[in-house]
Amino acid sequence: MAGTLARIVQGTKSHIGVIGPLVNISHGSVRFQQTKTTFGPLADADRVFTNLYGRHEWRLKGALSRGDWYMTKQILEKGTDWIVNELKTSGLRGRGGAGFPTGMKWSFMNKPSDGRPKYLVVNADEGEPGTCKDREIMRHDPHKLIEGCLIAGRAMGAQAAYIYIRGEFYNEASNLQVAIAEAYQAGYIGKNACGSGYDFDVFVHRGAGAYICGEETALIESIEGKQGKPRLKPPFPADVGLFGCPTTVNNVETIAVAPTICRRGGSWFASFGRTRNSGTKLFNISGHVNTPCTVEEEMSIPLKELIERHAGGIRGGWDNLLAIIPGVFVKPLSWTLMVWWPPRHLWVRQLS
Ligand SMILES: Cc1cc2nc3c(=O)[nH]c(=O)nc-3n(C[C@H](O)[C@H](O)[C@H](O)COP(=O)(O)O)c2cc1C
Repeated sequence: MAGTLARIVQGTKSHIGVIGPLVNISHGSVRFQQTKTTFGPLADADRVFTNLYGRHEWRLKGALSRGDWYMTKQILEKGTDWIVNELKTSGLRGRGGAGFPTGMKWSFMNKPSDGRPKYLVVNADEGEPGTCKDREIMRHDPHKLIEGCLIAGRAMGAQAAYIYIRGEFYNEASNLQVAIAEAYQAGYIGKNACGSGYDFDVFVHRGAGAYICGEETALIESIEGKQGKPRLKPPFPADVGLFGCPTTVNNVETIAVAPTICRRGGSWFASFGRTRNSGTKLFNISGHVNTPCTVEEEMSIPLKELIERHAGGIRGGWDNLLAIIPGVFVKPLSWTLMVWWPPRHLWVRQLS
């Protein structure tokens, strides 16, 4: 795992400049140098989610025109190691909150088989206040998620994916179900998915709206028909997960970006953002900004630029700003951004 970040001052013949940070990888002497110093704005050509605002057709025809399901068979045929390595190269970290490296997480599933089936579970619970990114994927780009399930499933040798979707997301579940039916009909999933010889099913499971069911083991309990209460770990889901079988739980966005990473290459994705925090990302900006929005941007884009460029700045100017709440408190200023501003009762109401 990654170790500390350190800044270094390097001298050259003509000047002394600050470069860095350097990243120490604790398993050895490998050192990656962070040389990029400017982040964002993201060019349209580099967007993964090209129908984020639902301006185009979300069904299969529209998805194909946006490049989804392109060369999926060839990706599947490249096999587990290739897919996992591409994800590792991309530096993608889970978009559900904990930020665990995705390629490494998938590799945990590749133990010698003991005969039990393996499952991929997609976390579409999205209950965090102010968070509304996964729903945009599911209602406007559902085929990205389904194709992602197939590729992730292949990488971990899973036989099925269960998409656990928040109960309140009625329209999203409906669009997802239509898209799954289209994918079955086109032969993209099911028996001999995409003609690759690999069988893979996708199921949708609707939750009942409990926030705790977003926690991965509570989610697994809920799919099994029990009360959504977290399990003690260990055993971890990769050993004993859904129905007692090896399972990986991933967020919707994590899975939905995987096909594009495989098509454009892990190093393309890694070229955005910083070492250890790379790629593009969906940001939800809400609160007292002029134009609240969901937008895909480059990781590490300065917070002020993100708000100015996409959310039209703070209402009444930056002097009005009282607080910024970055959603998912375990991460420095990244996921959901909620900007609060007087009247104060809003602040109090949100906290209570
Ligand atoms: C109380 C709680 C709620 C959570 N809610 C969500 C959620 O709504 N969506 C999500 O993807 N992850 C949620 N998580 C994180 C998941 O437990 C899990 O780490 C994540 O789905 C893993 O996917 P990733 O590796 O792709 O990020 C929650 C965690 C906790 C502790």
